[in-house]
Amino acid sequence: MTVSPKKIVVTGAAGNIAYSLLWRIAAGDVYGDDTPVELSLLEIPQAVGKAEGVAMELSDSAFPLLHNIQITDKAEEAFDGANAAFLVGAKPRGKGEERADLLANNGKIFAPQGAAINGHAADDIRVLVVGNPANTNALIAQQSAPDVPADRFTALMRLDHNRALSQLAAKLGVATTDFDSVVVWGNHSATQFPDLTFATVKGEKVIDLIDQEWYVNEFIPRVANRGAEIIEVRGSSSAASAASAAIDHMRDWIQGSERWVSAAVVSDGSYGIDEGLVAGLPTVARDGRWEVIQGLDLNDFQRERIAANVAELKAEREAVASLLK
Ligand code: NAD
Ligand code: LMR
Repeated sequence: MTVSPKKIVVTGAAGNIAYSLLWRIAAGDVYGDDTPVELSLLEIPQAVGKAEGVAMELSDSAFPLLHNIQITDKAEEAFDGANAAFLVGAKPRGKGEERADLLANNGKIFAPQGAAINGHAADDIRVLVVGNPANTNALIAQQSAPDVPADRFTALMRLDHNRALSQLAAKLGVATTDFDSVVVWGNHSATQFPDLTFATVKGEKVIDLIDQEWYVNEFIPRVANRGAEIIEVRGSSSAASAASAAIDHMRDWIQGSERWVSAAVVSDGSYGIDEGLVAGLPTVARDGRWEVIQGLDLNDFQRERIAANVAELKAEREAVASLLK
């Protein structure tokens, strides 16, 4: 049976994250080994030349599944008929900045892209926002696409999730795949809440194996501030790990995952998170949709941490009110 190609948009195609992300998509890591892909690279006019160079290298990699590469600075062309979109193109923060400091400049990118998705993408479009501040940028894009179901817009919490797993694996001397029911709630910011309350490792409760002091004073801030730590040590913001997490997110969304993962989705109002905010939640992916794990009992510590994220996301939403429909 011939499978028709899927069109995948990557914005910021000449940037650092894309330089890792594009190769994974072209290798079939999103839709699987039997689905050809067409790449659509969106850049600003000044970076189209560099994106052309990236496309030349992609061609030179002779990926059997890569059927076409389109390069443009026009959002309408880029998103025309798109099945999936990684919205990466945005400025990264530098040393000493918070991700929210990027909101004024980066926020403006996402309204026109959301509008172009609204008018041009395929019916099955799935959007993952990576560019920071990712949650609120995803909100802006979603609000600019009134004809697209809101659940097609998501933001990346999977990097935070993966960071949590790897810190835990190192602490307990086990594999990252040994954990279940880990979740990072809220905003992809230093306020995020990597939550171990429900986490298990090989069937045992993680909180019974670690001390509270390590959990609250080391683990949570370590995961939450890892982006800043990478910028400090590497000199620029995480790129390959972000690309890898973006692939994990989109692959699970399309192909399914019964293991809990963290995805920032449009809130349905559960867990005291205002309906409509784009927030990290515990999810599984079934039948091509993210399903939020419902009915969890939260303790006071969890409620407090989640509430801090809600307050921050609301303040970000307020700050970009002029960009929202
Ligand atoms: P980069 O500066 O290397 O590349 C960004 C690219 O985006 C540039 O080539 C730029 O020309 C392009 N761009 C800017 N405006 C655009 C527009 N309107 N349309 C299309 N392209 C546009 O940056 P990077 O390291 O690739 O990071 C990209 C973004 O991802 C940053 O905002 C960074 O903070 C964010 N990030 C998010 C996560 C996460 O977990 N959510 C992780 C790492 C980085
Ligand atoms: C990260 O978490 O590594 C990215 O969001 C980049 C940053 O600014 O921290």
